[in-house]
This record gives sequence, C-alpha cells and structure tokens, in this order.
Amino acid sequence: MNGASTVPLTEISVRVRNFYDQHPYPPAIESLEEYQRHWDNQQRRRADFYLFWPGRPYRKNQSILIAGCGTSQAAKHALRWPEAQIIGIDSSATSVHCTEQLKKKHNLMNLEVRTLAIEDVSELGMSFDQIVCTGVLHHLGDPEEGLTALRGVLKREGAMQLMVYAPYGRAGIYMLQDFCRRLGIEANSRAIRDLSRALCALPSAHPLQNILMQSPELRNEKTIADALLHPQDRAYSVPQFFDLIGKSGLAFGRWLRQAAYSVHCGVVAKIPQSQAIARLPGLEQYAAIELFRGTMIRHSAIVYRDDCDSSMYAINFNGDAWLDYVPLRMPDTLCVQEGVPAGAAAVLLNRTHTYKDLLLIISPAEKKLLDAIDGQRSIAEIVQRALVTAGKVPHWDDIRAFFERLWWHDQVVFCTATES
Ligand SMILES: C[S@@+](CC[C@H](N)C(=O)[O-])C[C@H]1O[C@@H](n2cnc3c(N)ncnc32)[C@H](O)[C@@H]1O
Repeated sequence: MNGASTVPLTEISVRVRNFYDQHPYPPAIESLEEYQRHWDNQQRRRADFYLFWPGRPYRKNQSILIAGCGTSQAAKHALRWPEAQIIGIDSSATSVHCTEQLKKKHNLMNLEVRTLAIEDVSELGMSFDQIVCTGVLHHLGDPEEGLTALRGVLKREGAMQLMVYAPYGRAGIYMLQDFCRRLGIEANSRAIRDLSRALCALPSAHPLQNILMQSPELRNEKTIADALLHPQDRAYSVPQFFDLIGKSGLAFGRWLRQAAYSVHCGVVAKIPQSQAIARLPGLEQYAAIELFRGTMIRHSAIVYRDDCDSSMYAINFNGDAWLDYVPLRMPDTLCVQEGVPAGAAAVLLNRTHTYKDLLLIISPAEKKLLDAIDGQRSIAEIVQRALVTAGKVPHWDDIRAFFERLWWHDQVVFCTATES
C-alpha cells in the first residue's frame, strides 16, 4: 500500500497539498498517551459504536478509513479501536509523515497510511465499515466529487462521519481572510506572527471574537495559517450540507451532537416560535435553528448510503419498539445534583456542547430511571427495576418523553439491535 496517486491533480489540489505540506494541521503531536488513556474504556467505545450503528450488534474489528487524516487522526483511531483495521490517506506527504511517526512510536500494527487524494480513493481497492472525513471536504476544489468517491468505498451498511465548516458563525473568519487577500498577506512565519499580533488588537465586537472564544487555539500561530490564509475554504449552511450529501448518494442519519439543532433543547424550546419550528420537516427545523443560533462554526454529522436499510440507524419513539431499546450513557455527560432548581433532582449536561443553554433538568422520578441505566438493560427493564419493583405505577407517555429528551440532549445513545 505504498506510492502516490498517478492521477493529475487540479491546480486547487496542488495549492492545497502544498499548503498542508508547509502548514500541517492540526499541529503535529509527539505522543498520544493521554488520548489512549481516554479511550481505554469499554463503555466509551460501546457508546461510540452505537452512536453510529444503533441497530447493529457491537463489534470492534471494523475497517475504518480516515480520509484526509492530517497529522494524527488516523493514529488516534488506531489507538481507539485496537482490533480494527485503520487506513489513513492524505494528499500531503508531511501529514502522512507525522502519522507514520506516531505509528512507529505507539507500535500501531493496525494502521496503514498512504499519500493519496480522496478523489483517487478507489485505488485502495477496498471498502469500509466506517469513513471519517472531518475538516477536509470544504478544502476540495469539487467537494461533491470527493464525497462521491468516498461513498463509492463505503460498505452498504457502513457509516460516515463528516465535518464541514458552517457559514454564519465563521463570518469573522471570512472577513479576516478577505483582509489578508486585499493586503497580499502570504503564509510565511513573519506574516503569521504579525497577524497574531493584529488578532490581539481586534475590536471586541468583531464577528471573529465569537470564534476566538469557541476556539481559543486560533490565537496559536500554527492555527492562524489554516484559518486565515488557506487557499481554498468554503462553508455549508444546513440546506447546502443536505444538498451536498444528497447529490453524493448519501442520507442524513444524525448530528454527531444533536442538542444544538433540536427544537426540544435549550433556548430554542422556549421561544414563542418553537411549536411552529417543530411542525417543519427535519431539515427545515435544523435550517431554522442554525439561523436562530447564528454562531455555528461547523456541522458534524453521521451519514449513510442512501440505499442502506434505515432501520440500522433510525431511532423511533412511535409504536412500542422503544421499550426494547437499551440506553447507554454518552461519555462526557455530567449529572449535577448541587444547587439545582427547587423540586429538581439533578441537572444533566454534556461537556462537549459548545452552547451552554443545553441543560436538562430532571425530576426525582426521572433520576431513578437515569440511575438504572447500565448499558445492558432495556427501557422496559429499567422501568421495572426503578419504578415497578418499588410499587410505583409507570406513566408510559412521561417515560417515553423522558428517554426521548435524554436522547435529544446527547445524554444517551441507544442500542436497538436485538443482539448487543
Ligand atoms: C484541516 S486538516 C484536517 C485533518 C484531520 N481530518 C483532522 O480532523 O484532524 C485537512 C487535511 O485534509 C488533507 N486534504 C486536503 N485535500 C485533500 C484531498 N483532496 N485528498 C486527501 N487529503 C486532502 C490536508 O492535507 C490536511 O491534512
């Protein structure tokens, strides 16, 4: 699996490849020990699996493609899933070299890395259970061509994780990119240092301040080039993102973290328009909420082939099937019990959320249900254990609404497979 692509690269691809050869991103790291410790946790891995495949039995030996792997992402996945086969591809030789260094350091026998453009991915002659392509498509000359190529190597029951830039929250980035273009600023170390000084003097109401708050690493000189001096960068609003995946033969599954897009969560659930939003179809709801929130800087989603059986990933609270779902707590969730509102038992939050309004306040009865979640019991078994054996009568509509709320708030994922 060695050797570079023979297909001629377009001018944009050449410029992007040269850019990343000089400014690899994310900045190279020497060791992944902390990352390895973080993922050395069976519960974390199981929850990650069911985030992608609620309807499939748990397995650890998937084939995973990291497309546009940068300096460390493929090595991270090789550590995260030691029994899986990981292939990392990137058009930048510098990024591939950084990944090779990590492979050597951590003795990652399950990782192969190759200098290869996404557009040429069929040259691998393989297909994958999972494809991860984050922070890459928006840098391609023709993102639809790239995504279609990836779709071509995704197994029918496979899942793809995508992240693309979002436009409204990045308005400040595009203003500063234009500022740099007008001044002919190039990506050399002196210009980057000067830009870093300019960012410190940025007016406090400048639209870029929102991003500096969400991503403080943008002040880092190594990140400035990627954000402000990139030769090719476009962003996708929710409708544009759905258009891109639809044209590439893919179907939307879920947002990686969905609470910020949900009419059931946070501030959006409380505005006078929330019921009108809830009556819209899913895509229109997300589009409206992106406009209302105004500061989303990226969209991270899980998508599937448009010809796959949607029961593999669909979560449905109509009918009775939900009673057999097995909830698993999502990693990085917190249950705060001190200083909670009167009558509440706890406030739940997910530490990976950027927005701080996505809290879920739960009652003492709901807390009992939450405490009975162990990643093995179905909802029906949880109700039996938490309520029925304690002599309480279950109110099924409330129970269904509670588990649906937990799911929308990124507190749980579900295993819907009959065999887990
Ligand atoms: C912003 S970095 C993201 C790296 C990684 N996905 C992550 O999230 O850490 C973008 C990466 O995509 C690579 N890339 C850009 N265009 C590519 C293409 N057409 N084919 C393969 N890799 C590409 C770049 O070389 C760079 O390493």
